[in-house]
Parts: sequence; structure tokens; C-alpha cells
Amino acid sequence: MKKNSMKPAVLPLVLAAAFFVFTAPLCAAAENGAGKTLILYYSLTGNTRAGCEALQKALQADIIEIRDRTNRSGRWGFVRSAFGSLLGLHTAIEPEHPDMTAYGTIILGSPVWTGKLSMAVRTLIDKNSFDGKRVIVYTTTNAYEQEKHKEKSRNLVRKKGGTVAGYYQVLAREEKNGEKVARSREQIVVDTLEMVPEIRTLLSAE
Ligand SMILES: Cc1cc2nc3c(=O)[nH]c(=O)nc-3n(C[C@H](O)[C@H](O)[C@H](O)COP(=O)(O)O)c2cc1C
Repeated sequence: MKKNSMKPAVLPLVLAAAFFVFTAPLCAAAENGAGKTLILYYSLTGNTRAGCEALQKALQADIIEIRDRTNRSGRWGFVRSAFGSLLGLHTAIEPEHPDMTAYGTIILGSPVWTGKLSMAVRTLIDKNSFDGKRVIVYTTTNAYEQEKHKEKSRNLVRKKGGTVAGYYQVLAREEKNGEKVARSREQIVVDTLEMVPEIRTLLSAE
């Protein structure tokens, strides 16, 4: 008699405990923003913006544009950018400290400047902590970066506490009839979207 009357009382307790055990880590992950993705990008001429906006829609991520407060337009803007980049200088950016607390994954979007991430994105990395963040680097570039250059960029993120989970590059120029020509924004977007299934796999990994 006693044995039978215990059963109905124990079952809800066991179910409640199991529910707690299985859902507590998920709730904690949600609070840490483990499942959410933020895209932080800089773009001077629009290629990286086009790619990052496509990523944002495909991944349903949040997105913040990092603006460089220095005027980099025109030929003089190019020259000062190239020299500043060569020298490894930083630049004034806005926002300086985007709020990353709600996100587990940060996608850093940048053009490649003199074999490095743009000055704005290097400054962003330097001024912020990426502790506990999974970082995916996305670049647009005229020519594929050498592995040693990519590794330097990864190390910038690692120094600030982030784990680099992926590094993607989309070409902004291609050779046609022996000539280097700009690729269209549509082509950049198509190439970017081809990377999405792999990025989704990265995002779903622990
Ligand atoms: C100052 C400067 C330096 C650049 N240096 C490189 C380079 O070293 N290698 C390369 O492949 N492309 C280089 N580029 C080309 C850009 O990486 C490429 O055009 C990129 O898609 C631009 O992105 P955005 O339109 O988002 O600014 C450079 C562009 C600028 C403005």
C-alpha cells in the first residue's frame, strides 16, 4: 500500500529535476549570449558592408558598423590609409566600445589593408576585450591573404581573449582578359552566402 502511494508523488519530482538539469545550461547559455551573434564591421568603399549585411540577414545576427572618424576619401585618403596601415597605426573609431555582452559569437568584418585588417578593425580589437567570445573573421580583399598575415590577425584577437573559430575571405577583384577588374557587389554577396552553411556549422558547435 505504502509503495503504491509513493509513486504519484515521486514522478513529478523526478520530472521537475530532469527538466531543471536539462534546461539550466540552456538558460545560462542564453544569459551569456552564447547563442547570439553580433557582426561588427568597417567598410570604406562598401564591399565589406555588402558582405556583412548579407551575413546579417542569412544568420539573423545583429550588426553594428564601426566608423573611422578620419576622412579617408579620395586619392589622399587612400595614401594616408595605406601609410597608416603599413606603420600599424590605430585610428579614431565610433563606437569605440560596442556592447558585446549579449553575444557569444562576434563576426569581425574588415577590408584588407596592406596585408592587415583595416586600421578601424585593428583599433576595435585593441580597445575591447573578447574574453570568452568566439570570433569569426570575414574580410574582403583584392588578393587572397597569405597565411602568415591571417595568423597575425588571429593573434590580435587571441591577445584580447577571443577564440578564432573561422577566417573567411571574399575577393573584390578578379582577372578578366589579363586585366584585374572589380567584382560586382552581387558577386561579393553570392560568394559570401556560399560560406553561410559552414559558418552555421561553426555557430552550432559547442
Ligand atoms: C588603403 C588600402 C589598402 C589596401 N591594401 C590591400 C592589400 O594589401 N591587399 C589586397 O588584396 N587589397 C588591398 N586593398 C583593397 C581592399 O582590401 C578591397 O578593395 C576591399 O574589398 C575593400 O573593402 P571595402 O569596400 O569594404 O572598404 C586595399 C585598399 C585600401 C583602401
